[in-house]
Amino acid sequence: MDIDKKAFFDSLGGDDGVARMDDEARADALETHMMSELNSAIAAKKSRGEAAAAKKFPTAAEVEAQIETRKYRSGVGFIMVPRSGENVKRLTPMPSNPKLTDFFQLRFADTGHHCLQSANLAMKNGMSEEVILACLLHDVVQEIMRTDHGWWGAQLFEPYISEKTAFAIRYHQALRYYADPSVGYEYPDLYRELFGADYVPPPYIQATYEMVRKHKWYMEPRMVAVNDLYSFDPNVVVTIEPFEDIIGRHFKQPKEGLGNDGSPVAHMWRTISRPDQPL
Ligand SMILES: [Fe+2]
Ligand SMILES: [Fe+2]
Repeated sequence: MDIDKKAFFDSLGGDDGVARMDDEARADALETHMMSELNSAIAAKKSRGEAAAAKKFPTAAEVEAQIETRKYRSGVGFIMVPRSGENVKRLTPMPSNPKLTDFFQLRFADTGHHCLQSANLAMKNGMSEEVILACLLHDVVQEIMRTDHGWWGAQLFEPYISEKTAFAIRYHQALRYYADPSVGYEYPDLYRELFGADYVPPPYIQATYEMVRKHKWYMEPRMVAVNDLYSFDPNVVVTIEPFEDIIGRHFKQPKEGLGNDGSPVAHMWRTISRPDQPL
């Protein structure tokens, strides 16, 4: 620590005051002065840090004010409006009876890495196969729709997966707003960024949280949220291959191909297959 000698001497009554002190009194005075300086420096650093932290995240009103600065709505999916802001690329045609893995390879270009990383983390953390599958699928619907993606995602997969896995996908969205220290889950900074630092989730999210919190399957979506948050790592490249056995055991692949099976969600798969179709 740099000592401002003049300020220190002045605080003790100048050169004369210091001359009247014995060595022990001077040492005590110096120690007191250094402690006080250190405390001031820490307080200043803390308040700078708090100011920076407070500044880092917009308020909910500022997020709202951004709406009219865009040419699109924030809920639109990434295959429709890429976040790069660049022109879209021509897509490789899908096979005639596309499987889930084909979608990972040819359509989930934006969300696929994140979901693969989440599933990889869930596998490393010893999660059940159903939770690993839920992590693998949890955000891919954001290719077509981001708003309420938990509900959209569960619906997209519901005909092909267990009720419990659909439950995990549907409700991971609501649980992300609520911390659970028992499993080390904290409210994510990403949400402060996306929704504003003072954002309060709407009543349906609160009601959903309260329902899920008491549900026997609470830990299913909670584990998706836990393995979700820490999985953005550009240095980790995960492929679909390690999950093919789990997909084989838990994903009822329609023999006609996704989009061709006449299920209530087939049109959603066709939309992902052919997002350039104008109507
Ligand atoms: Fe999500
Ligand atoms: Fe996610």
